Amino acid sequence: MRHLLKLQDLTREEILSILNLADQLKFERNNGIQKDYLKGKKMGLIFQKASTRTRVSFEVGIYELGGYGLFLSSNDLQIGRGEPVQDTARVLSRYLDGIMIRTFEQKEVEDLAKYGSIPVINGLTDYAHPCQVLADLMTIREYKGSFKGLKMAFVGDGNNMANSLMVGAIKTGMSFAIACPKGYEPDAELMKWAKENGEFTITTDVKEALKDADVVYTDVWASMGQEGEKSKREKAFASYQVNKDNLSVAKTDVMCLHCLPAHRGEEITEEVFEEHAKEIFDEAENRLHAQKAVMVKLLK
Ligand code: CP
Ligand code: NVA
Repeated sequence: MRHLLKLQDLTREEILSILNLADQLKFERNNGIQKDYLKGKKMGLIFQKASTRTRVSFEVGIYELGGYGLFLSSNDLQIGRGEPVQDTARVLSRYLDGIMIRTFEQKEVEDLAKYGSIPVINGLTDYAHPCQVLADLMTIREYKGSFKGLKMAFVGDGNNMANSLMVGAIKTGMSFAIACPKGYEPDAELMKWAKENGEFTITTDVKEALKDADVVYTDVWASMGQEGEKSKREKAFASYQVNKDNLSVAKTDVMCLHCLPAHRGEEITEEVFEEHAKEIFDEAENRLHAQKAVMVKLLK
């Protein structure tokens, strides 16, 4: 594994190995025995979109491993003024040991990896959010013990989260169901892959997807960059909500996860969010441990 651009690039074994290391790093940190695995290593953290969790967990993560993180806002980089990604990649490769990038197009992340000579980590694109899903898988395994026989159900937009969760679920042996309105399906190629490689269902009926689910996941109706479609999306997604009634058909010990930020009263009710707050904030914490594991794998 040379980069983390999307989960499709990883084998099941590579995913499990990251999760195992993440568990180990979490234990070491919580017991004050963390080592400087990345002493002196420098990570550039490029952001073309806003972030709370990704930014802070990467900065704190590299610091805790003995390295240094540089926050690079695209507003301040020449990339924001049109310098090609091919050149940015080759320049940054001369200074840094690794790059995390959050941007719009997946191609930009792939190009950064192609033209640079250091590991690249996708910190969210319109297509994928692999770091989030590694933390999600880590959290599911903490709560459920293993992935075997679990059903994950996603309610809402077939966006970056749905794409990556689908791949993460199928690769770890879970079944995956999504309920989304017509016209808001996940990536067609990924759905084809999911059908061929595991148990995958798609429906417009929320209760059908949530039936007997062990893990329920949702995300915002309008992602970053889609602010202009807010009112159109509010109409399309009005019934695609994780609420008590819809959850009543899931397993009684169902987990509810959310990548955050959450919009209460839209994709999830306040009541359900607060009832599952422990899981959701454990999930947010696990961003730190999962990404530290990715950085150790790629940079050490
Ligand atoms: N879940 C997530 O990636 O959060 P941020 O946008 O705050 O980084
Ligand atoms: N789908 C959301 C995820 C945020 C972490 C977005 O892209 O804005």
